[in-house]
Amino acid sequence: MFLPIHLISISFLFKYVLSEDILLPSFIMNNQSFSTSSSSSSFYLCHLHQLKNSKDFFLQGYNIINGENTGNVHHLLLYECSIKDNLIYSGLCGMYNAHFMPSSVYHHCQTRIIIAWAQGGQLNYNYPTDTGLKMNTYTQLLLEVHFESSIPYNHSIGIHLRFYPLDKKPKYEIGILTLGTLVHSSLFLPPRLNTIRFPTYCFNDCLKYFLKNQFVINIFSILVHAHRRATRIILENNNFNRLIDQNPFKYHQQENIYFKKPYPQINSTNELTLICYYSTRYDYSQAIYGGYNSNDEMCQAFLYYYPKIESFPLCLSLPVYKNKHLLNNKQKWTNKLSLSIKYELESNINHLSLCGDNIYINNSNQTIFHKKFYQRSMQNIPQYSYTYVHFSSFFYVIIIFLLISTIYCYLLAKKHLHSFSNGGTLSSSTN
Ligand SMILES: *[C@@H]1O[C@H](CO)[C@@H](O)[C@H](O)[C@H]1NC(C)=O
Ligand SMILES: *[C@@H]1O[C@H](CO)[C@@H](O)[C@H](O)[C@H]1NC(C)=O
Ligand SMILES: *[C@@H]1O[C@H](CO)[C@@H](O)[C@H](O)[C@H]1NC(C)=O
Ligand SMILES: *[C@@H]1O[C@H](CO)[C@@H](O)[C@H](O)[C@H]1NC(C)=O
Ligand SMILES: *[C@@H]1O[C@H](CO)[C@@H](O)[C@H](O)[C@H]1NC(C)=O
Repeated sequence: MFLPIHLISISFLFKYVLSEDILLPSFIMNNQSFSTSSSSSSFYLCHLHQLKNSKDFFLQGYNIINGENTGNVHHLLLYECSIKDNLIYSGLCGMYNAHFMPSSVYHHCQTRIIIAWAQGGQLNYNYPTDTGLKMNTYTQLLLEVHFESSIPYNHSIGIHLRFYPLDKKPKYEIGILTLGTLVHSSLFLPPRLNTIRFPTYCFNDCLKYFLKNQFVINIFSILVHAHRRATRIILENNNFNRLIDQNPFKYHQQENIYFKKPYPQINSTNELTLICYYSTRYDYSQAIYGGYNSNDEMCQAFLYYYPKIESFPLCLSLPVYKNKHLLNNKQKWTNKLSLSIKYELESNINHLSLCGDNIYINNSNQTIFHKKFYQRSMQNIPQYSYTYVHFSSFFYVIIIFLLISTIYCYLLAKKHLHSFSNGGTLSSSTN
């Protein structure tokens, strides 16, 4: 009598615990030669993983495995490849190691980020109720882990995916929209400056085209991404309404910002401006370029939203500088030179819009991006100066203690004076 019920409950459990682990394989984790073969202090390791789903799956949430148990992991990304061919790769990756990767992996698997986690971020995440991230049949996923200096020996690092049961489809599919600029864009930061603003746009034409009329998307989470020089990142809707203002931006604490209901919404009348602020006050002789390395800079934001819009994973812009000689690092940098170049870069008004999907059209080098030039100025973007606070919290404790003591002394003195003068009047009135 009990046995069949048990079996049913067990099969019920199996049905509802659909999951999969995607880990960097142990042969990579135990091969320390990756750490030494990389010329720079930080490097990326990638591993391609194919799901065995013959039906579409919906992701309900995920856990990061061992990311934060080791300080060596800077960030971890999961990409969805845009093609079905069975690809195999495990090894070095990222911009400086692109030549190690089969070109099809590099081209097809490094554009659609579906999970992004960085040092200090949340380890477990469930998508909002009734939403799920669709995984097509036999989806190929590329796990990319960015390490600082070395690989922690014999650790399993990766992602544990949790799926909806097969017979259950969430009401809304989740989409991820990447904003900002291409890693190879002309991001250029002259040295010795406290504040440099770098704006990028998701132009209204793109939202008009992909959101059509009356379509509204709900943003439930945002992850902004930049490197060491970034001090603040702002995302604005139509220049006035701030979706996020990460201030200060902390390179070692990059995590998704989760919104509470009602979620902020975006519709076809909007235009999004992402502004990254940088400080190069500790760089003296070299300007900073855009790039994947922690010593290069980036400016991106990932919007997690629902319901999903097809073929709209990217809404980017690239500054187009009239004077190409601006981005020249082979000069003798002085404060004056840096300021004048900053002025020229910040007053640039020409931007190339790139929106749509970075899918390559049948064996050509052409993508299905919508490309168009626009003009926008930073005049209506507020100035902002970054003040770095050097003092330790101990300093503040002392200041607060002194402040409280002063107030206390003042009150005490006031009370004494008051009772003294009261006493005076009392005695005078009784007289
Ligand atoms: C370790 O990685 C290097 C590349 O950096 C590779 O040449 C070598 O074959 C790998 N060794 C093993 C045992 O996988
Ligand atoms: C690696 O870790 C596993 C368990 O986490 C352990 O069983 C194994 O012995 C370790 N291997 C080495 C070479 O340390
Ligand atoms: C679209 O967005 C604008 C500004 O964010 C808002 O004023 C307007 O009501 C929205 N329209 C719809 C149909 O949601
Ligand atoms: C790519 O090729 C397929 C068949 O080979 C064809 O159906 C499709 O229209 C092509 N796409 C483009 C954008 O040329
Ligand atoms: C694609 O670009 C590469 C180099 O960027 C070039 O060698 C190749 O010939 C191009 N292929 C096509 C089909 O245009």
